[in-house]
Amino acid sequence: ESWLAGFIAGIAAAGRRDSAGADAPAATVDVLIGTQTGNAELVADDIVAGARARGLGGRATALDDVTPEALAAMSHVIVVTSTYGEGEMPDNAGLFWEALQSDTAPRLEGVRYSVLGLGDRGYDDFCQAAKLIDTRLEQLGATRLHERVDCDVDFEEPAGEWTTAVLDLVAAETGAKGTGAAEGTGAAEAPKKPRSQWNKRTPYPSRLATNRLLSAPHSAKEIRHYEFDLGDSGITYEAGDALAVVPVNDAALVEALLEHLGASGDRESAALLRTEREIRTPSKELIADLVERAPASELASVVAHGDRSDLDSWLWGRDVLDLLRDAGPAAPGLAELLPFLRPLQARQYSISSSPLAHPGSVHLTVASVRYGRYEGVTSTYLADRVGESPVGIYLQPNASFSVPADDDAPMVMIGPGTGIAPFRGFLHERAARGASGRNWLFFGDQHRETDYVYEDELTELRTRGVLTELDLAFSRDQAEKIYVQTRMRERSRELYAWLEEGAHLYVCGDASRMAKDVETALLGVIAEQRGRGDDDAAEYLADLRRAKRYVRDVY
Ligand code: 2AM
Repeated sequence: ESWLAGFIAGIAAAGRRDSAGADAPAATVDVLIGTQTGNAELVADDIVAGARARGLGGRATALDDVTPEALAAMSHVIVVTSTYGEGEMPDNAGLFWEALQSDTAPRLEGVRYSVLGLGDRGYDDFCQAAKLIDTRLEQLGATRLHERVDCDVDFEEPAGEWTTAVLDLVAAETGAKGTGAAEGTGAAEAPKKPRSQWNKRTPYPSRLATNRLLSAPHSAKEIRHYEFDLGDSGITYEAGDALAVVPVNDAALVEALLEHLGASGDRESAALLRTEREIRTPSKELIADLVERAPASELASVVAHGDRSDLDSWLWGRDVLDLLRDAGPAAPGLAELLPFLRPLQARQYSISSSPLAHPGSVHLTVASVRYGRYEGVTSTYLADRVGESPVGIYLQPNASFSVPADDDAPMVMIGPGTGIAPFRGFLHERAARGASGRNWLFFGDQHRETDYVYEDELTELRTRGVLTELDLAFSRDQAEKIYVQTRMRERSRELYAWLEEGAHLYVCGDASRMAKDVETALLGVIAEQRGRGDDDAAEYLADLRRAKRYVRDVY
């Protein structure tokens, strides 16, 4: 059962204070960010402000913008990073990590550092990127100022405590005197946009003005278009940002759960379960607890006789109530169950509008998750259960995913399925700006007849000359699968020509397969067109990434 132990492990020890080192001159704290969704940037802003309040310099940089040589010259380094996919570096940290792993990476004896991981304990490779960087920095001779802390989805509090502890250590060992005011002593920095006052704890109660089915009723998919009124929220967003939606659980499911627990009609618990706890996806801790309590259950038998993928397929489509039923009389009661239910999380969606085209409103394009009885919490809340009640929303800015600052630069957008969302926003944005740059969209889904969402808009944008090229890949309209990458390969020569002409390349959608396959296709196109082999193609793509001309919003 060692794999089960591994499965539930990773409940990391809390941060421990190390004693301060020798005196050093007042320092600049370099905050290096690895981020996929922007959370690391939020934390970094607080660290920079905290450093300045202590009379230290503070400067935030994306990991990929730091060479190992530049790193070696830094005195105090704080790394804040999330993890992408299965334990991989986030998109803006891959190049940094490659360079850091190299045998030629410089020694880092002069560097004092600490790492903060942002992640989700629901994943096996929880905070893997942070762990890797933490270990490698130590190997290269850097001194760990403070133990790494790995934060779960509710990162604000542990991140805040860690920040205070680390900065106090830096201030103590450098003899910096806090002024109490957040004044800059470090490198000059562009002033930050004021952060929206709405967040996870205080979401903006928005009116859902539109809820429209985009896919055909007989499609295998249910893709919907939503429009939220921004009212007097003061929320200002940019095309390419994400919107977080605070969900509410299905009252019928909550009641079924309470009834099973013999607590039917317990209004206080019902309120808690509706708005505060995840009752669809069981936590690892709940699974482990149930296996222990009910060794004769189906779950326990899958765990005892199967491997990880057997467990995953058994869990597929089963929710907390299903697991309680499976455990029978040995299942925990309400009070014992509550600590095993994770806090209900807001879900993030890529915004599919541009504020220039739709002022005062923000649009989402969302696939409703329904597998028989099993329903995705937030997508079905939006689709079925909002009614006249306000929906809690807040902005999750994604500064790295936006239209080129240069209106003349060409854009290539690859977004099958709901991956089209930000690109609808990009096209509206460019149309509203009167940007002259050419725009090329690769889009697809299962069937043209049922799944060609926003067809009217795309046709109109094409007629107006905003959408210069449109390549469609409907995977199931013919015997063999045709995917967006099939189309990319077919148009290899033009695609490479666009890149040579300075095109920005964007990918949005499924991370587990699509984004990887698209990258492989891209490397193939570059290698074929340049004729200088695979390493050259990889270097070409890495250059695009460094120039921020290859960016992804994948999930
Ligand atoms: P499929 O479901 O027919 O396999 C949106 O989900 C579209 O992305 C669908 O047409 C889906 O095709 C397709 N898709 C599935 N896997 C993909 C992959 N690895 N790369 C690109 N597109 C993929």
